[in-house]
Amino acid sequence: MKSQLFAKKRHEDLMAQAAASTLKRSLGVFELTMLGIGAIIGTGIFVLTGVAAVGTHEALGAGPALTISFMVTGFACALAALCYAEFAAMVPISGSAYTYSYYSFGELMAWVIGWDLALEYAVGNIAVAIGWSGYFGRFLEGFGIHLPGAISAATGTDMVQIPSGQWVALTEGVKTEFATVWQAFPHVTAIINLPALIITLLVTILLVIGIKESARVNATLVVVKLCLIVLFLAFGLPHFNPHVYWEPFAPNGWKGIMTGAALVFFAYVGFDAVSTTAEEAKNPQRDLPRGMIYSLLICTVLYIIVAGVLTGMVPLSVLGNEKPVVAALSAVGENNVAFIIAMGVTFTMPTVLLVMQLGQIRILYSMSRDGLIGKNFSKVHERFRTPAYGTILVGLVVAVFAATVNIGTAAELTNIGTLFAFVLVAIGVFLLRRSAPDMPRKFRVPAYQFVCGGCVIICLYLMASLPWLTWVRFFVWMGIGFIIYFTYSKNHSKVREELNSRPS
Ligand code: ALA
Repeated sequence: MKSQLFAKKRHEDLMAQAAASTLKRSLGVFELTMLGIGAIIGTGIFVLTGVAAVGTHEALGAGPALTISFMVTGFACALAALCYAEFAAMVPISGSAYTYSYYSFGELMAWVIGWDLALEYAVGNIAVAIGWSGYFGRFLEGFGIHLPGAISAATGTDMVQIPSGQWVALTEGVKTEFATVWQAFPHVTAIINLPALIITLLVTILLVIGIKESARVNATLVVVKLCLIVLFLAFGLPHFNPHVYWEPFAPNGWKGIMTGAALVFFAYVGFDAVSTTAEEAKNPQRDLPRGMIYSLLICTVLYIIVAGVLTGMVPLSVLGNEKPVVAALSAVGENNVAFIIAMGVTFTMPTVLLVMQLGQIRILYSMSRDGLIGKNFSKVHERFRTPAYGTILVGLVVAVFAATVNIGTAAELTNIGTLFAFVLVAIGVFLLRRSAPDMPRKFRVPAYQFVCGGCVIICLYLMASLPWLTWVRFFVWMGIGFIIYFTYSKNHSKVREELNSRPS
């Protein structure tokens, strides 16, 4: 029994599985890098940066030292990316950390990580769809269109229509600011976040149609997204005045910097989604490591520069909202550029949804192929050659939650789930170097003891910075996973079946 719980996949079986894959191989290093950037740049930089710099009543802000927060988190992700790269080059199978764990730790841990990755990709997408809905609402405001409060926020959110006509969530902040006056304005309880629901469904349709089409749309939108960042820098830099705005540089010291780092971690989530497309890459062993490392490198450099310019061009108080980039440009009088960026974010943020959903489905595809979940998830559509059934089901589940829950819970759960995956991947690389030192590796992590050790320590530290309620939710989610594993998955596992049928 014990040995079966830790039944491992053999390297030759994994390679045979990759060779037998019916998914279409159409992605080169350019498309993979673009997929990485597509998944990385989104809600994190355009929405969460302001809160991370300024802080909330629960968490200290990093202040202008937000640049350091981005460096710390970027460093942790770089270590994780190196570990992912070694695995991706060794086990070029769709399924990412799930497959790597099957290979290095055995079935139970593979299940744990596969189940955990749903927090990164599916729950992450819930947060991104909600973040997008907010930007979309503001984009429409630019044309004088106000989405009704009842259909623009999580179910049960109290909404009030402020004098400009805009519907805003009735948070404690709004209640304080408008004191008792708000009661005189129209207010409703939201039923559904309709924009979040619709965008998720549109992305789902695109993913069903095809990987090549999805990658093409993604690459185009990523170019636009990069232009938006260049535009921000071009118009923000002339206002950069560190002598005024960078004093004090770290108002809350190291604690503020680390709290900011844990929050902006969300901005980096997604580069590992590249590794889930192993069976659709033309040359996965060479290109997956490159795609992940290039995309992370490009985004890290951009994030650090954006954080520096943003905090150095306006007082911190301007940034304490959910559209800090737009707010900063408006504050320095660049209203037209601010509008272009708000519009651009609305059109390009869906790439995050696209790539993360792609990642989620590819992991379910691998788990299903191994018998751990229902076999419909690995059924490939005859015409489109995509796992259409899984794509539609995941799309529907994400859409329903995106339409009904709020963003904070989803983002924090995403961070804890992703950090946990990074920890396990780093441990996996370390253990395999010890147990199978001579196995051919097309990419090797340099100074692996330091890289793997550093990755584990920093990720655990960032996990520890998350609220206790996030930990509770994380354990509940994992608990549900164990119930499913012991009641269904272990009885349907193909690896066990194979193990039992081998002559002893
Ligand atoms: N990194 C992605 C974003 O910031 C999840 O939206």
